[in-house]
Amino acid sequence: MKTDYSGVFRHNAAVAKYDEVVYAEDSYAFEINRRQRSWLRALVAAEFGAGRTTQHDFACGTGRAIESLAGAVRAAHGYDSAEPMLARAAAKGLDAQLHLIEEAGASPVPATTAPPSIVTVFRLFLNVSPAVRDRAVAFAGAILATADSGVLVIENHGNRRSLRHFARRPRRGSDAWFNELSTHEVKQCLDRQGFVLESIHGFALLPKGAYRVRWLRRIAGAIDETASRLPFLAPVSTNVVYVARRRAEATSSRSA
Ligand SMILES: C[S@@+](CC[C@H](N)C(=O)[O-])C[C@H]1O[C@@H](n2cnc3c(N)ncnc32)[C@H](O)[C@@H]1O
Repeated sequence: MKTDYSGVFRHNAAVAKYDEVVYAEDSYAFEINRRQRSWLRALVAAEFGAGRTTQHDFACGTGRAIESLAGAVRAAHGYDSAEPMLARAAAKGLDAQLHLIEEAGASPVPATTAPPSIVTVFRLFLNVSPAVRDRAVAFAGAILATADSGVLVIENHGNRRSLRHFARRPRRGSDAWFNELSTHEVKQCLDRQGFVLESIHGFALLPKGAYRVRWLRRIAGAIDETASRLPFLAPVSTNVVYVARRRAEATSSRSA
């Protein structure tokens, strides 16, 4: 695990790379984001109805998840510990309030908003410690006080139980890091904070390496596009998104 993961996003070069290289048009991540966006909008419409919920996006970065729900939510708040990431999000003119938060310590206090809410945590869990994950879910718990307050949506872009696992090799002389995160670890984290995992959704069955050979890219894209519509493949997909809700008894024991 990268020891100063949060610090990476305080460098302007890393911030620009995130939007311009990692999420460049037609990139692996760009295509995943496109699928996630339409799924996320459908989730919000089905769960709350258009424009009826507030989004709280933890570790919002340059605002990807906020952009995905633009116009579909009543209001949006983004929270991040890296000022340059927030500056880039602000420069996009997102219709959201952005909040600079500490990277550690007590869980940040969310903006006060009326329920229902959707709390999104995208592309954070994989590369941070269990303590940071717990802090993010505790933050969500402050917003989602009861089972009917809304939903928590978490992305894991390195599912351990997927084909990506086989790409793990000792990388001599490389400072690239390769983390994996299992659904079991996510479930344990949710459980510690009084949440239950409701569903899991896949957005790429294949790892990024499957797109390395140019002429195979189109085939890989077609496979991932199809796989993302087949729920039974979600648990073994490389990129997964979890939907969780506050546990009913956690709610009642707290209010008792
Ligand atoms: C890979 S980016 C993801 C950004 C955005 N959620 C997305 O999916 O595009 C990870 C983000 O997490 C933020 N971050 C890292 N550690 C954090 C922490 N301890 N608390 C809050 N944000 C953190 C970084 O500043 C960065 O913006």
